[in-house]
Amino acid sequence: MIRRILLLAHRVPVSGEFSLNDLAGAGGRMDEVARAVSTAFTVSNGLRRDTELTILFVAEPPPRARRIRLRGSGLRYLNPDERSTAALLKNALVRSSTLPRDIEASPGLVVGPIDPAAALTEFARQETTVWLTEESAPYVTPASATAGVGAILSDPQDPAPEEAALLERLGVPRASLGPVRLRASQCVDVLQNRWDSIPGAGLPERT
Ligand SMILES: C[S@@+](CC[C@H](N)C(=O)[O-])C[C@H]1O[C@@H](n2cnc3c(N)ncnc32)[C@H](O)[C@@H]1O
Repeated sequence: MIRRILLLAHRVPVSGEFSLNDLAGAGGRMDEVARAVSTAFTVSNGLRRDTELTILFVAEPPPRARRIRLRGSGLRYLNPDERSTAALLKNALVRSSTLPRDIEASPGLVVGPIDPAAALTEFARQETTVWLTEESAPYVTPASATAGVGAILSDPQDPAPEEAALLERLGVPRASLGPVRLRASQCVDVLQNRWDSIPGAGLPERT
């Protein structure tokens, strides 16, 4: 069962030009993006090989906007700590900043330029995708998931009006994970935990 998550990163400098000592400030909340990556893939002594995480870095419009896709099946060099995860993402953004096409910046991590609306549409159109929002109907964990599971969520900033309008136009169902406003990384934790209970969901690989 493939688990797909898309995170909208609104403020991280798309060039990757920020200090690892200031992830929350100059890094545009890269701390929270890195936490979301870490919690999407790592568990105690294990790695989730069935998870794919897409991050849309949309602080600047095309041609500078970037997408990073991480695939658990091929991922290497991901440690559980936030700083080294942020470094992995930052290095990918820096390497990609002058390149017109996708590159695999490290094993299992592909980065490249995107049109954010097209990339969001491509992801949203995948079967079973939900849009996580605080005020909507409760998320119902699928009873089975042969087509996989998927969710879209936003970083500490809510989706921009044009992103929300696009998701509405596409008819992506909204779902809430509970009455409390959570951080994006906490939503990823809750999601993975819910998805773990789906019959047939894969177990993390022990490391
Ligand atoms: C930190 S929240 C965004 C800011 C938030 N609206 C606030 O007022 O603080 C980050 C994202 O996590 C998701 N989120 C947070 N709490 C949620 C909940 N209870 N149910 C579903 N999604 C949630 C949403 O996608 C949201 O855009």
